[in-house]
Amino acid sequence: MFLAQPADWSVMADRAPALDDVRMQRWADLVEHRTGITIPVERHAFLGAGLRGRMQQLGIADYDGYYRLLANERGVSQEWSQLVDRLTVHETAFFRHAPSLQLLTDEVLPAFVARNTAKATGFQVWSLGCSTGEEPYTLAMLIQRYLDQAGSDQLFGITATDISRPALQSAREGSYTERRMAGVAPEYRARFCVDTGDDHWRIAESLRRRICFAQLNILEARGFPVSNLDLIYCQNMLIYFPRYQRLQILDMLAQRLAPGGVLVLGPADMPCWAHSEFERIRFEGTLAFRRQVAGTASVKGT
Ligand SMILES: C[S@@+](CC[C@H](N)C(=O)[O-])C[C@H]1O[C@@H](n2cnc3c(N)ncnc32)[C@H](O)[C@@H]1O
Repeated sequence: MFLAQPADWSVMADRAPALDDVRMQRWADLVEHRTGITIPVERHAFLGAGLRGRMQQLGIADYDGYYRLLANERGVSQEWSQLVDRLTVHETAFFRHAPSLQLLTDEVLPAFVARNTAKATGFQVWSLGCSTGEEPYTLAMLIQRYLDQAGSDQLFGITATDISRPALQSAREGSYTERRMAGVAPEYRARFCVDTGDDHWRIAESLRRRICFAQLNILEARGFPVSNLDLIYCQNMLIYFPRYQRLQILDMLAQRLAPGGVLVLGPADMPCWAHSEFERIRFEGTLAFRRQVAGTASVKGT
């Protein structure tokens, strides 16, 4: 993941006391090691500005004190989450990638309904790097609408994870301005959203309760308790990780899908990925893979 570049960061960077190159690289290494966020040298000024901004909030005067605080934290703590939130891009939108959504309604959901007349857990989804919630809410609207139209009484559930606590807080709230709702068609608004009258819409409770939001650093997901999934939807997150980490992440995700389950990536995320138990789904404009058989074969990039 590369650094975000908010407009006023250059100003903040100018005010920040200089960090020498060695210490800056130490910071960049720590952030990459703990979060996967890659910070190339040409972006070090922005890392410095992000650090400085957070330190000012905390009243910490020196970089080394803040470094010690973060280096001693286990996992991705509250403080890591705050820093990462300053360093990453949360850009997202409702109904963001139309071809992938079309794939769900044309192929993935029909296949699930056809083969699972009574799966006890229903259709289980994992939305990774869910940011402020637009992606999992989009999936929930589509799935509910599809199941209703198909006359299916299957249930569904979505686990939505992100490293950023502020983004997740906003996602749980499920309240969006008219501008952010731009991609939501009137039919979906009428059915799944409530106009709260202050230029905001709130996702209806019936949909919100289908989604469980949780903080998760994808690099620490090995013990994360989701498995036997029908759909993993992971877009615009992998592309920022180095190739070796993308492969590790995909290996871990592959093991979480049920036979017949589908992994949907962003079209540019990892087009050359291959796995002995997965077939590429040929659906225009998408990058998606279906699990054929259960097992634990290793993942290879080509
Ligand atoms: C550009 S947003 C993508 C949002 C959504 N998937 C979409 O396509 O619209 C990338 C998200 O990945 C999250 N992220 C970055 N590094 C992460 C990590 N190591 N573990 C989990 N989430 C991470 C960021 O917090 C951010 O919300």
